[in-house]
Amino acid sequence: MLKANIAIFASGQGSNALNLIHHFESHPEIHVQFVLSNKSDAKVLEEAKKLGVQTFSFSNAEVENGEFITQFCIDQHIDFIVLAGYLRKIPVGLIAQFPNHIFNIHPALLPKFGGAGMYGKHVHEAVLANQEKETGITIHLVNEDFDSGEKIAQFHCDLGENETIETIQQKVQALEHAYFPLVIEETILKARNV
Ligand code: GAR
Repeated sequence: MLKANIAIFASGQGSNALNLIHHFESHPEIHVQFVLSNKSDAKVLEEAKKLGVQTFSFSNAEVENGEFITQFCIDQHIDFIVLAGYLRKIPVGLIAQFPNHIFNIHPALLPKFGGAGMYGKHVHEAVLANQEKETGITIHLVNEDFDSGEKIAQFHCDLGENETIETIQQKVQALEHAYFPLVIEETILKARNV
């Protein structure tokens, strides 16, 4: 059986993208075909290249042009798309071509702290301001609206009295790095075996 090809979309530092690349490095059934960013100077592109993974960068207009990005993924024989800190909206054409095959990670317990403008540190700021006793991560399917696709998995962490944005970010990132690759692996293997 051919390996499942995954495309990783990322916009920033890419710690999750790089963690996924390491996880799938010599996986017998899953291959990271490329990392794509909407920012040509994103650190993740440089780091992924060092790990021997193809990288591409496209303008926001290109990645939001459903026909263009869909054809690109078809030409690259992509089976699944993983959003790892990717902050632009996914065009409907791409979602239609890859139904239930696009996954996102969100750094909070959706439906709390999701939606437009809720990304990265903004999420932790809101969690802190709201004096939440816990937060966590959500891995979910991508649909036409930000952060509202079907949930695949959630992981929680407790928050204490003296948290800061940085301590919350560290706790959330630890969950992301521990669980995101495992959930993606399990979800892809399950999808291929049905
Ligand atoms: C991660 O915390 C991810 O959950 C978040 O961006 C960060 C990217 O970090 N995604 C969102 O906020 C999506 N709404 P990374 O570049 O180090 O992987």
